Amino acid sequence: FSSMKLTSQPELFEFKGISMTHFFTDDWENVQNFQARPDDILVATYPKAGTTWVSYILDLIYFGNTAPERQSSIPIYLRVPFLEAVIPETPTGVELANNLPTTPRLIKTHLPVQLVPKSFWEQNCRVVYVARNAKDNAVSYFHFDRMNEVQPDPGDWNNYLQTFMDGKTVFGPWYDHVCGYWEKKQTYSNLHYMFFEDMVESTDREVEQLCSFLGLSTPTEERQRIIKNVHFDVMKQNKMTNYSTASVMDFTISPFMRKGKVGDWKNHFTVAQNEQFDKHYKQKMKNSTLKFRTEI
Ligand code: A3P
Repeated sequence: FSSMKLTSQPELFEFKGISMTHFFTDDWENVQNFQARPDDILVATYPKAGTTWVSYILDLIYFGNTAPERQSSIPIYLRVPFLEAVIPETPTGVELANNLPTTPRLIKTHLPVQLVPKSFWEQNCRVVYVARNAKDNAVSYFHFDRMNEVQPDPGDWNNYLQTFMDGKTVFGPWYDHVCGYWEKKQTYSNLHYMFFEDMVESTDREVEQLCSFLGLSTPTEERQRIIKNVHFDVMKQNKMTNYSTASVMDFTISPFMRKGKVGDWKNHFTVAQNEQFDKHYKQKMKNSTLKFRTEI
């Protein structure tokens, strides 16, 4: 019943300057004190920018050949723990990360750059950031908030779009998130900044560049195998990557692997919403050199 879902949806509150729910702040002390190791790889994103996609690519790059049982029995969200998450009936992200048996450890975060535990920077860890254009990111996040019971109720699309523009979505403003990591990259050379749109345009090229950032020479043949496995249709069918094993999501409302496209925003934004969004966007992004594509 929808009434059950409503009562379980969490309140938003202001936490260190950003909107959060308790699911991502309950373990804060352990998150901030997390001890990163130099070979850890941090996958950082704003929610719905392609986190799972790049997590799975990294997992296949490092463990695709060596651990077949890992590929067939452990869901991606356990292989690449979500550091700040405290989700019911699951070990905390910190516990999962600390118990990872493999090297390198692949760790996911949605924290804005200023809240990333400092040991990642001190250990000079590699950081892979994925950014997605604001319009598609907003659409994807809207559908995610509808189907995920640990996320706040998004209301209708018009209401949600305003929430997104106001920066009152979980993990704070998209604008500050993408710009924050973009600025960090100017001084921290171990940060690889990727775009969802580039990955859709050429997964092959993006995987090759990622491997080069990681200092790996991955043979063409192996890269081809990875690319085949991380195709949208294949990931959507794969129980270990499509989140069908996650109890907090209701796929009858919207699947996790929803569309995987660039430009789906055109099916959601009205002309008026688009004009208003563009105007606000220009203002928000006026001090940044960061450029996005909203179609390819
Ligand atoms: P849509 O809702 O637009 O379909 P995250 O992993 O950060 O939560 O991001 C989820 C978004 O990435 C969803 O977007 C999902 O469909 C898309 N996605 C995941 N794997 C993908 C793939 N292999 N190819 C294209 N898009 C993918």
